[in-house]
Amino acid sequence: MDLDLNNKSVIVTGGASNIGRAIVLKFAEEGANITIADLDTEAGERVAALAKQQGAPDAQVIKTDVTDLSSVENLFKQASDAYGGVNCLVNNVGWDKLMFFTQTTPDLWDKLIKINYVGNLNCTKTALDYMIPGDGGSIVSISSDASRQGEPREAVYGGLKAATNSFMKTVAKENGRSNIRCNCVCPGVTVPDSTDETSENSMWAVKDAMFTEDQFAAIAKSLPLKRIGKPGDIANAVVFLSSQKAAGFITGQVLSVSGGYSMIG
Ligand SMILES: NC(=O)c1ccc[n+]([C@@H]2O[C@H](COP(=O)([O-])OP(=O)(O)OC[C@H]3O[C@@H](n4cnc5c(N)ncnc54)[C@H](O)[C@@H]3O)[C@@H](O)[C@H]2O)c1
Repeated sequence: MDLDLNNKSVIVTGGASNIGRAIVLKFAEEGANITIADLDTEAGERVAALAKQQGAPDAQVIKTDVTDLSSVENLFKQASDAYGGVNCLVNNVGWDKLMFFTQTTPDLWDKLIKINYVGNLNCTKTALDYMIPGDGGSIVSISSDASRQGEPREAVYGGLKAATNSFMKTVAKENGRSNIRCNCVCPGVTVPDSTDETSENSMWAVKDAMFTEDQFAAIAKSLPLKRIGKPGDIANAVVFLSSQKAAGFITGQVLSVSGGYSMIG
């Protein structure tokens, strides 16, 4: 199906690594112009070059810290100047350190809140500033099944992703009249094929930092679809939801893409 994303202007935060990288490459296949917003510009440039090879008319990397509003405002100005506006935003940046809540500290909470929630507020606010006076648009936030399940060692992160789900629903209700759709995609464990697909700051850059091989095998066995998620699984859902043609009557939804890990009625 043609998703009608040809020449659209798309911003993907955290597009230099793993899931964000796959989202960039999927938009590239659909012929979109892509702005990758990441702290790691070297890895971002590698993804931008691949995106152009794989069908993007153009792709640029803007060094951005999503936790800093002025950095985000610069990002949107650069994307709009280059590609004539902003049609789609994917709030993909996120970060976690797996620990039981009793082991966490207020410093860690602050870091988690800034990266997983404040970054989303900064990008969504700025996107609305462009989309409301424009033709509307789509905002997809990458949440997590930890927001729906209550995941051990992800207490603060899961709570912030649940806040993201709720925030997106409210923004969807407030801005539907401006033809702006907002949705969330919740991955389960989603692992890159190799460290070539991750940036330096990636949660997956250090082998075994998240899970051991035995733990991966146990997770795969526990899922109805019997395998661990791949970044492209998430990208397919994000690009579908971003397409006005395919998903133009879908807003305020939270979609798990996790091999059946969570099943919410
Ligand atoms: N991979 C998983 O198993 C999984 C599961 C559930 C949810 N998620 C969510 O999916 C999203 C992507 O996860 P991933 O595994 O691809 O992450 P990743 O760690 O591989 O990549 C994150 C990217 O964000 C960038 N980044 C970090 N902080 C930034 C900031 N302040 N400003 C700009 N860029 C910044 C990093 O440089 C990196 O390139 C996140 O929101 C994460 O919470 C991932």
